[in-house]
Amino acid sequence: MDGLSSEHFTINGGRRLHGELALSGAKNSALKLMAASLLADELSVIRRVPRITDVFTMVEMLRALGAEVAFERGELRINPGAPLNDCAPYELVRTMRASIIVMGPMVARNGHARIALPGGCNIGPRRIDFHLRGLEQLGAHVAIDHGFIDVSSDGLHGAVVPLDYPSVGATENLLMAATAAAGETVIENAAREPEIVDLARFLTAMGATIEGAGTSSIHVEGGRSLHGAEHEVIADRIEAGTYLIAAAACAGDVTVHGLDAVHLELFLTKLRAMGVGIDEGDRSIRARRDRGLRPVDISTLPHPGFPTDLQAQVMVLLSLAAGASIVTENVFENRFVVVDELNRLGAGITTSGHHAVVAGPRRLAGTVVEAPDLRGGAALVIAGLAAEGATEVRAIHHIDRGYEQLEEKLSALGASIVRAADAAPRPPSADRVSGEVR
Ligand code: EPZ
Repeated sequence: MDGLSSEHFTINGGRRLHGELALSGAKNSALKLMAASLLADELSVIRRVPRITDVFTMVEMLRALGAEVAFERGELRINPGAPLNDCAPYELVRTMRASIIVMGPMVARNGHARIALPGGCNIGPRRIDFHLRGLEQLGAHVAIDHGFIDVSSDGLHGAVVPLDYPSVGATENLLMAATAAAGETVIENAAREPEIVDLARFLTAMGATIEGAGTSSIHVEGGRSLHGAEHEVIADRIEAGTYLIAAAACAGDVTVHGLDAVHLELFLTKLRAMGVGIDEGDRSIRARRDRGLRPVDISTLPHPGFPTDLQAQVMVLLSLAAGASIVTENVFENRFVVVDELNRLGAGITTSGHHAVVAGPRRLAGTVVEAPDLRGGAALVIAGLAAEGATEVRAIHHIDRGYEQLEEKLSALGASIVRAADAAPRPPSADRVSGEVR
């Protein structure tokens, strides 16, 4: 137990999910849009922001940097105002490694940023070398001392910045820094995720000149200061995929609203190959399952490949398929952490390096499990929904980082899921462990 987890979900499985739900704004866009708002010294308004822990952490980060922030009913009003404070506190960076995304905007605005080195997390070391090397190519000086990154510049300049790997965070940090770099910047081998396109749209509304977002080559004409803007966050495609998998795992019929199906193209192709009925409507996707599931092999890749953020969840579905599937995790070093807990629910998954063999079909049976991280926690919830009997998913603070109103949305689809406080742990005491040994 990590001491943070004070609540758990109790799920009674075996119920069919059916109905419709409206998706929240994308966590992995909202956090970057919040950082981008630092590039202007006036008010920006961001709508459809999910009320999740990571957003609350980023609100604290923006306030620590000196911005005025108000967050009500999904609408963020951010006014960075006077020059920013130039140090991002360790406690906040430790809490959420995505905080590193304020580095680009801070260097662009202040010419300086001092940020605690983000720790790894349990899905991998989460390096930031591509971020730092790119900033150096834009003219910044980078030093690391006493656990802090110190980035300074007396004026960024445009450059061609090739990325060794299409890193989402590095693309975003460099895209934001490039808006302040005099001249043209070209980010080569850029990430192509829909959240990058959403960020570029917001930056363009702020006055930036950007072409090619969503492709591997992004061109930025930088050097002008930016102004405030208004923007609505795109829908969360990972939340969408999570609910569609849950529907298929519970022989259900669920429609999610608010996103372009093209954001999940390969994922939907894989669900269809498994035998899940998928209908794409106008900004909606319907998944229904009324037959057996077929095994399929899946390899996670940068967008438009199969999203790594849906890997843990889809392994639950593969556990119900009539045959073995191979899942290959190509994005993170250690993203099979939840496998042991899934196997305690009755899955039959064996891992070797980046590969997992998912045996099926397996009958899942409820028990007590502990969420290891955000997406592993979501996978455990899906497994509990599909399992026979009751499942208790502990450490759900991990899940609250990225899913808005999870239990409310699932209950509205017919699931039996309630949130409750953990019983206070009773320290072992003499009287309880006494007793005679004959
Ligand atoms: C973003 O993380 C997302 N997080 C992740 O979602 C997502 O899994 C990931 O992109 C891939 O799509 C946010 O947007 C807040 P990367 P990020 O830089 O930016 C290595 C979730 O569950 N790398 O594309 O950290 C890195 O170690 C989260 O919502 C370097 O080696 O992803 C990793 O193995 C989890 N050096 C791989 O690249 C670098 O400088 C992908 O990282 C940067 C990254």
